[in-house]
Amino acid sequence: MGATGATGGALLTRLIDLGVPCRALSRHPDRLRTDISRTPDVEIHYADAADSDSLRAVFDGATQLFLTMPNSPDQVALETRVIEAAADRGIEHIVKLSAPTAAPDSPVAIARWHCEIEQVLRASGIAHTVLRPYAFMQKLALLGREVATRGAIVGTMGSAACNYIDCRDIADVAAAALTRPDIAGGTYTLTGSRTFGYPELAVLLSELLNTPIEYIDLPPTAFREYLIERSHLPHWLADHLTEIQRLAVEHPERPTDTVARILGRPPRTLESFLTENLGAFRQSTAATEQR
Ligand SMILES: NC(=O)c1ccc[n+]([C@@H]2O[C@H](COP(=O)([O-])OP(=O)(O)OC[C@H]3O[C@@H](n4cnc5c(N)ncnc54)[C@H](OP(=O)(O)O)[C@@H]3O)[C@@H](O)[C@H]2O)c1
Repeated sequence: MGATGATGGALLTRLIDLGVPCRALSRHPDRLRTDISRTPDVEIHYADAADSDSLRAVFDGATQLFLTMPNSPDQVALETRVIEAAADRGIEHIVKLSAPTAAPDSPVAIARWHCEIEQVLRASGIAHTVLRPYAFMQKLALLGREVATRGAIVGTMGSAACNYIDCRDIADVAAAALTRPDIAGGTYTLTGSRTFGYPELAVLLSELLNTPIEYIDLPPTAFREYLIERSHLPHWLADHLTEIQRLAVEHPERPTDTVARILGRPPRTLESFLTENLGAFRQSTAATEQR
């Protein structure tokens, strides 16, 4: 699932490299890269988690499933529907993309949703692997507009340490779980090799962009308002971003060595990710006009 997304797309690339036959699922199969449609080991199919018939049709004859779903208030219902369809069609192993601190009493609502889904997965009786990655480096691009137009990162994390991971490393671990019996069946907390605080991220971006970037730290309520009013985020997502940043302040994050242990190489670094993706943080002519 999620073959058009950051992690699912990277997993598809990895499975193609490994020569593993697979089905790439999307609600918009025409959006998948044309080179993928020419790969003999890949079948491209329409599937929508909101449409159980489409799921049952596409799971027929498949043995394993990579389960990922973007965050939304419907996430538990949709992922539950996917697990039910997988059970109905005899899928033998599910690799689920979850989140850190997935626990019933987590202060982060989305982590509680993932905990509920993990419980559904356990109750299904299907063998499963759970991946609990920390913040995706790929989502840092969402800071790009403010970095480009105001020279600023805005948050409510103070200088709290935060784990980041490149989605391509999550995908490589997912591929290992799908192809290696020694990895399948575990629950893995995934991080990069070191933490970064927002002030440090601002310094790093200043160096890479060769222009001063400052970190603006707001109180939690003001940060939530900023996300709703300036970034036009829905309330549930503004709540989520505020909750995870406050959690990082209250419970300092630490890296794990899980990616290196599973893959036999260190995780990709934040420096190299930002260097590859600096365009997302650069001032375009349009961005200059907004200033
Ligand atoms: N962002 C983070 O830092 C972070 C950290 C830890 C954990 N996570 C977890 O990672 C998961 C994935 O998050 P993400 O934001 O990266 O999502 P994403 O992978 O970008 O999700 C988008 C993918 O989901 C597919 N999709 C959306 N709705 C669907 C539906 N109804 N049926 C079938 N496929 C559907 C989309 O495919 P089509 O549009 O092509 O159908 C697309 O490929 C979330 O559950 C999140 O909690 C995220």
